[in-house]
Amino acid sequence: MSVIPSRLGATLLALCLGGCDDGVRLGETEPDEALAGGTTTVWRDDLNAFAQPSANLSHERKVDFSVGNSFFRSPWVIAPATTTARDGLGPLFNASACQNCHIKDGRGHPPGPDAPNAVSMLVRLSIPDTAQQAAIIERVGVNPEPRYGTQLQDMAVPGVRPEAKVRVEYDTLTVTFDDGTPVELRKPRLVITQLGYGPLHPQVMLSARVAPPMIGLGLLEAIPEQAILDNAQAQAAADKGVRGRPNQVWDDTLGKVVIGRFGWKAGQPTLEQQNAHAFANDMGLTTHLQPRDDCTAAQSECLSAAHGGRPEVSDNILRTVLFYTRNLAVPARRDVSTPQVLAGKRLFHQAGCQTCHVPQYTTAARTAEPEQANQNIRPYTDLLLHDMGPGLADGRSEFAAGPQDWRTPPLWGMGLSETVSGHTQYLHDGRARNAMEAVLWHGGEAAASQRHVLSFNAGQRAALLAFLNSL
Ligand code: HEC
Ligand code: HEC
Repeated sequence: MSVIPSRLGATLLALCLGGCDDGVRLGETEPDEALAGGTTTVWRDDLNAFAQPSANLSHERKVDFSVGNSFFRSPWVIAPATTTARDGLGPLFNASACQNCHIKDGRGHPPGPDAPNAVSMLVRLSIPDTAQQAAIIERVGVNPEPRYGTQLQDMAVPGVRPEAKVRVEYDTLTVTFDDGTPVELRKPRLVITQLGYGPLHPQVMLSARVAPPMIGLGLLEAIPEQAILDNAQAQAAADKGVRGRPNQVWDDTLGKVVIGRFGWKAGQPTLEQQNAHAFANDMGLTTHLQPRDDCTAAQSECLSAAHGGRPEVSDNILRTVLFYTRNLAVPARRDVSTPQVLAGKRLFHQAGCQTCHVPQYTTAARTAEPEQANQNIRPYTDLLLHDMGPGLADGRSEFAAGPQDWRTPPLWGMGLSETVSGHTQYLHDGRARNAMEAVLWHGGEAAASQRHVLSFNAGQRAALLAFLNSL
């Protein structure tokens, strides 16, 4: 009788020789490991790898996806115009199409030194909380800057002054691996000029954000809330300095506080609300969820400019864009079983990256769209906020997210950044010029992981990068 258990024990021991973590066999490829998005996964690794519909969409629903795509991709025009379905851009805006920032459905980047506009990066702004503004802060998450609101719009329709021009300058600093290899990092400094409506509030807080990639968002929305809360509990129980918390944000439709999932500080609860806020703030387009243009009392030309209907974006268009944003598929991983990638995966776990970049989930059984239900997915995020230290801090709170807090971004698809977006600029403001710089910026709750990576030799660094590039 006693023979069987001990033999089983020996087998388990053998399986774990390559490194075991939470029952995951790190030394070998896991079943379906390449299928980052479950059965929604697409087998593409080209320029259009992020622009594909979920693989499990029916032919008919792929047509709906294409309709949503056209409203995401094509520019909106200034009202009044003959194309009434697509007019109403501005008065203040950052770009005329979603796709201008979410380029090829991939990530944006900070503006280069000679760029006339920030385009795929935007700047959020606010001032410290005050008791008089409590009702607004509860719903918006911040105390808006009195003249400029919550976001700087660097474009405007004719007859309306743009709010400002935004430039980025960089200071450099060096970190050194234990083997003596130096890496130069660059820290951005925002330069705001040509303010259209007078000086900014003396206590203004600014936060630069690049557009995140659009893949797998419907799957992230389908992760059960309990799984996110379990991540927080597991981190607290492990007591190793990582203590993620969900953001607590206002849901415009439900009229109550719920957990946040989207945006670099998880300031938005659902894709529908995120999209409606993007239409309103990024493009100056109203929806039934955001019925007013983003003009402050100081912006009279903005308040009196022509509009393109009330709302400018019909419920039907909002719905097709929602369907589109839920169904942008995650591409399959590449090279999952090469020895270098498997070695990199082991190092990823040894450095504690998976504590926050949680590899795997099963999505809920009941989801908004059936394609996202019961999927075994590998996004590499806990969807929680972490204090990432002063180096990455924007000094600006957003709902329950503090001045040093950021939401762990999903890592799926990151190896295709160069192919899809033409660059590898990571982190909320695109300051990292490659994946290793992104890792070396980790501080605060992630300081121990960063320290671990600094001890890696050249071969180990190459293996970690090979793993990240296989995602
Ligand atoms: C001016 C550039 C810009 C435009 C135009 C733009 N976005 Fe974004 N988008 C961003 C940025 C920056 C973020 C991150 C926001 C944050 O952290 O608060 C974002 C975030 C998102 C997210 C959440 C992604 C995530 O990973 O959490 C969705 C969904 C989204 N945008 C949809 C849209 C849609 C739909 C449109 C068009 C209606 C649009 N965006 C237009 C810049 C833009
Ligand atoms: C304490 C939680 C935590 C740990 C541990 C952690 N990360 Fe992160 N990671 C984050 C957060 C939060 C961000 C976003 C920071 C920002 O944008 O300012 C991030 C960003 C990244 C990015 C950039 C992603 C993008 O889309 O811009 C990469 C790459 C990354 N992490 C890899 C790693 C690796 C590799 C490790 C282990 C060595 C690791 N992380 C450990 C929380 C963590």
